[in-house]
Order: sequence, then C-alpha cells, then structure tokens
Amino acid sequence: MAAGAHENWSSRAAFIFAAVGSAVGLGNIWKFPYEAGEGGGGAFVLLYLIFVFGIGVPVMIAELALGRRGQLSPPNAVAKVASESGRPHAWGLIGWAGIIGAFIVLSFYSVIAGITMSYMANTLTGALANVDAAASSEHFGELASSPWALIGWSAAFSLITVFVVARGIHGGLEKAVTLLMPILFVLLAGLVVYSLTIGDASAALEFLFRPKWEDLTGDTVVQALGQAFFSLSLGLGTMLVYGSYIPRDVSIPRSAIIIAAADTGVALLAGLAIFPIVFQYGMEPAQSFGLVFNVLPVAFAQMPGGIIVGTGFFLLLVVAAVTSSISLLEPMAAFLEEKTAFTRRSAAVTAGVGAFVLGIGSALSFNAWSDVKFLKGTVLDNLDFLTNNLIMPLGGLFIAVMMGWAVKREFSRDELHSITNGQFALWRFMVRYVCPVALTLIFLAFAGVINF
Ligand code: PHE
Repeated sequence: MAAGAHENWSSRAAFIFAAVGSAVGLGNIWKFPYEAGEGGGGAFVLLYLIFVFGIGVPVMIAELALGRRGQLSPPNAVAKVASESGRPHAWGLIGWAGIIGAFIVLSFYSVIAGITMSYMANTLTGALANVDAAASSEHFGELASSPWALIGWSAAFSLITVFVVARGIHGGLEKAVTLLMPILFVLLAGLVVYSLTIGDASAALEFLFRPKWEDLTGDTVVQALGQAFFSLSLGLGTMLVYGSYIPRDVSIPRSAIIIAAADTGVALLAGLAIFPIVFQYGMEPAQSFGLVFNVLPVAFAQMPGGIIVGTGFFLLLVVAAVTSSISLLEPMAAFLEEKTAFTRRSAAVTAGVGAFVLGIGSALSFNAWSDVKFLKGTVLDNLDFLTNNLIMPLGGLFIAVMMGWAVKREFSRDELHSITNGQFALWRFMVRYVCPVALTLIFLAFAGVINF
C-alpha cells in the first residue's frame, strides 16, 4: 500500500486484542512469576502494580497518542509530530531506535520461541513423557548444543510471524489475534484451574503473594520497573505503530488501562499455573530457561494427564510468543512499506528474513559461539543488554519527554479527548516529571552507572 493510505484497526476490540497480544508474551509467563516469587512476593507484586499503573500506563498513553497523531511508521511519525510542534527533526531518532530495537528483540525472541515450539512437539509426541531432573536437563542441553535444531525451529517460528504480518493489518494481524487471544485465555484458565486443583496451591500463593519486605532490594526495585516496561511492550515503537492504526473515536487512556490490567492479570495467572505444580512435585522454582525447560517437563512427566497439560502449556507459550513477535516485526515492515517501493508482502518478508538471519548469532550463542564473548558476554547477551537495558528505557524516557515537553499541548489534548481536564493534567504531570525521573534512574542502574 502506498504511503499515506493507512489501514486502521477495524474496531476497538481488534486494537485491544492486538495490543494485549503484544504485551502478553514470554516475559509474562517465564519471567514475571519467578521474579515476583524470588524478589519479595507480595511486596514485589505491589511495587510492580505501582510501576505498571503509575509509570507504564502514562508512557503507554504517550506512545499510543504519538503514533495516532503521526499516522506513519515510527521514525516518520515521530519526526512529523516534532516538526508540526516546531521542534527539530532529530526527535525522529526515537522512532529509529524503536524500529531497530524491535528488529533486534525479534531476532532473539524467535530463537527462544522456536525452542518453545520444539518443546511443544516433544511433549506431544511423548519424547519427554518420562523425564526425571537429569534427563530433562540433558534434553535441553542436547537441543541447545545443536545449531541446526535451534536455527530450524527459529526458522519455523519466523515463518509464522512473516506469514501473519505479510497479510496486513486486517487480513493478518487482526485475524491472528482474534483467533489466538481467546485460545490463550482458555488455555491459561484451564491450566490455572488444573494446577490449583492437583498442585500445592498454598505453597504457590505463599511464594507469590506473601510480602517479604526483606527481599526487596534496590536491585529488585529496578528489576520490577524494567520488567513492567518490557511486559507492556514500551519504548520499542511497537505501541507507536499500533497507535497509528487506532481509529479516532477510541479512547487511548481507557485502552491503555485495559491493556495494562490484562497484561498484569496474565502474569499473575501464569504464576498460579506454574508454581502449584512445581511445589507439588517437590521442585525448586528456577529462573527463565531453567523453570520452563528443565523444571516443568519433570512435573508434566509425573502428573496425571501430563502430556495434555504439558502440550497445552507449551502451546500457550507459542501463542503468546506469536502475538508478540508480530508486533515486533510490524514497525520495521511498516517502515519499509512506507519508505521503499516494497509491497506489504515484500516488506514483511525482507524484515522477517533479516531478523531471522541476525537471530542465527543468538542461536549460535548456545553452542558454536558460546566462547565468543565480548562486552556483556555472548552475542545473545549483548543484544539482550542493548535492547532491554539501553534502547527500551531510553526509548520510553524520550517518548515521555517528547510528549511532556516538546509536543504542543493542544496536540496531546486533542488525542486524549476522552478524558477530563483534571485527568489530562495528571497525565501531563506524570510524563513531564515522574516518568522521566523514574526512567532515568532505571536507565542508569541498568547501564551499570549507579548501584542501589
Ligand atoms: N511484552 C512482550 C513480552 O512480555 C515482549 C515485547 C516487548 C513485545 C516489546 C513487543 C515489544 O514478552
């Protein structure tokens, strides 16, 4: 489609599904529950809620409003809104950082999502049916040590992402999310009910929710804010590009609150799906890869109906990953479509193949290149650090500063037409003062400049 002829979400619900799909991803299911349990239980959860609603929601409103005002792909939308406000074009760098950051996150997200697909297949076929702790970690070790397996699964996952994005907003993204999000909610609800029924619910509730103030350190505070940001998909141009497709009559502030509430709800429910069975089978909660790929398969192997439950769980992860990865490909695809002679389809294929090729570096970080270390570690460690610790918080910071200080007040007021003057004043106060200070602090802490 030519530049300017912009597709819009066909309804408010389609937009909310897409944005919740972006927000709900691997981060909710394998990162949040462990971080919460280990980082202070109820104390962490409370802090997380404050960060999501106090800092995440105002920044999300800013990002969505910037996108809708700009009506273009991130670099051009940001530059356009800046120049309409009499500000330098250089603000467009925020959009550039976003599309490059999203492209990089997509590259390694696909590798991890590929591993998830392989676990789904192996659970379904019964290959993991009888594993004990040793066999389970051997299985992961074998997969991780094979470059071809990782690259192959990542290719399969990338194909799905490209297929959806190539079909455009209506025919692709909207159709995918309206099919997949209900599946995700049903799977998650089913898993929570089953897990609470057969598992050790009280140990799980205690791990997740009993406030352990003594575990709340400077580090966990920074981690909570970083996780809130990653989980809400902020600072990468994703919400910016999704914002550019929102019809004018949809209330951005109300949508942002719904998205944040759904995202947080899923993160909490994921904890209730995972920990009752972890504790029931006498296992220790572990972090990220360890939790999902080592600990849980052992629990699935022991429980009644484990093949079905395990396959359902990995399917849940794959679905959550697909609805996030399409939102990671969209910014770059929209940009190429707008700025080059590419059709939507070739833009999606080009960006998707590019991210897949870059992802090979992350796949090799598990095996052939595991000794190639520089700056922060392996290629994967570096890409993760660059995006999670630098681009995302800086992107969020500059979006808040831009909407708070650089963009004309009347533009924001016009985008946020559905709220009262008082609510608008509160939002502006948050993006002018509170969010920039908080985001500068996490950026400095993440970059290793300050220590709490
Ligand atoms: N929010 C997604 C998750 O929790 C990841 C993501 C980040 C997706 C940024 C898009 C943009 O897994």
